[in-house]
Amino acid sequence: MNIALGSDHAGFILKESIARHLENSDLTFNDFGVFSEDSVDYPDLAKLVASAVQAGECSCGILICGTGIGMSIAANKHSGIRAALCGDTYSAHCAREHNDANILTMGSRVVGFGLAADIIDVYLKTHFEGGRHSNRLYKITLLEEYQRS
Ligand code: RB5
Repeated sequence: MNIALGSDHAGFILKESIARHLENSDLTFNDFGVFSEDSVDYPDLAKLVASAVQAGECSCGILICGTGIGMSIAANKHSGIRAALCGDTYSAHCAREHNDANILTMGSRVVGFGLAADIIDVYLKTHFEGGRHSNRLYKITLLEEYQRS
């Protein structure tokens, strides 16, 4: 598993702590930045992480901004990306089990590091259940195709 990691300036400090958490868990990741608290536009980072997941360079992504909302909106504009904004471990569990979310987004102004680490651990260890959920994901794919036509 190779994780694409990114944040905007508001998420930078939490993203750095998450990077240490992934290292301590022996998980491999590509850090797409940012690397300071200088102001940036979150869609630019969402694009980098979503593109790495789309291309298969990374099996999933983690995106942090102030609320997690902007990152989820921007990431979900990429076809094949299912980004889930999670602020609790139950949502993180269902995001994988039901929605096969391939990007997790969180808000640095919403969750502290301890909760963010728990959310990540649950997200990474949970598997897609398939079954009835597969047809629902297929219908999301159809929505993308409909929007393109
Ligand atoms: C930056 O101030 C903030 O708007 C951004 O991090 C994010 O919360 C947007 O959704």
